[in-house]
Amino acid sequence: MSKRIAVIRGDGIGPEIVDATLEVLNYLEVPLEYVFIDAGLARWKREGVPISEKDLEIIEKCDAVLKGPIATPVDRKGYRSVNVLLRRFLDLYANIRFFKSNPLSPVKNLDIVFFRENTEGLYSGVELRPLPGIAISLRVITEHASRRILLRAFKYAVENSRKKVTVVHKANILRETCGLFLETAEEIARDFPQIEVEYSIVDATAYKLIRNPDNFDVIVTTNMFGDILTDEIAALVGSIGLVPACNLGDKYAMFEAVHGAAFDIAGKGIANPIGLMLSAAYMLRYLGFRREADRLENAIWRVLSLGNVLTPDLGGTSTTRELIREVINFLVSDSGHCL
Ligand code: NAI
Repeated sequence: MSKRIAVIRGDGIGPEIVDATLEVLNYLEVPLEYVFIDAGLARWKREGVPISEKDLEIIEKCDAVLKGPIATPVDRKGYRSVNVLLRRFLDLYANIRFFKSNPLSPVKNLDIVFFRENTEGLYSGVELRPLPGIAISLRVITEHASRRILLRAFKYAVENSRKKVTVVHKANILRETCGLFLETAEEIARDFPQIEVEYSIVDATAYKLIRNPDNFDVIVTTNMFGDILTDEIAALVGSIGLVPACNLGDKYAMFEAVHGAAFDIAGKGIANPIGLMLSAAYMLRYLGFRREADRLENAIWRVLSLGNVLTPDLGGTSTTRELIREVINFLVSDSGHCL
């Protein structure tokens, strides 16, 4: 049966990498039906809204969302993040990011699955300037949200034969918010005696990730710590353009690359589409198309192993188009068809 996918092309390099990914998906012959949703900064500039109520209703009825990056500029008053809105609206509480070394990675043997709480923390959206010269952002941590992200990380570890979960916090300073997250982690960890648990303070974690990255397995933390640490780990993989992610709740799922709209290279035809293509592979697996997901990942792996056709972020000189042709060539040769 065909699956309905809400596709958001997004801002900056978004349309380039989304179109590239759809072209590649086409060769997998998966029964997917696309519903295109126009959302983001470009729409806000045109229409004064970044996404409409009607779009949200359509998204709710789809089987999954495939999303390009959406910009949230610092200097646009009145513009609220569509990313945060979608995560909240669909209650996509688990932002799961996958970091695996490839033949080009500066760090070998990296295999980290990162669980970032996606709905609260410092990104709760409660901010004010009560007096001139004073600004407040409220960091909201609830037991409910902590419990479900921690449970998801520990369950993932068990189901995927992982050995260790590192819980990242700053409870020595943020005694209440990180304190609650840590207490909840300690309670949940007791139900998973087969998993080694490590508690690690966020700044020390940032250091240890560079010094001994292969000591990490599954990591779980709160929203902003996760946002920052995952960009750091992306550098260890070789490029932020390579890293896939899913946003999962109990009912809905949204798939997107870790990187942003990359305005500095938008329109040049050199964006790396691999992060989004790998995210699409996770989407295929989520929808039950395991074999096709494996085929897509294998084709990407072969492109990276060969290293002949690489975008500039990977040290190459190829364009997005040349890279997707290479992926498609491998997909086609693997299926026995000729182009
Ligand atoms: P960014 O991730 O867009 O770019 C950081 C650097 O990485 C830039 O040098 C860029 O050229 C490079 N880069 C990123 N993706 C790449 C790719 N696929 N191929 C090759 N190079 C790539 O981060 P930045 O500049 O902080 O954010 C730009 C906009 O994107 C902001 O408005 C931000 O709010 C938004 N953003 C959206 C996200 C999302 O939709 N999930 C995530 C992160 C940022």
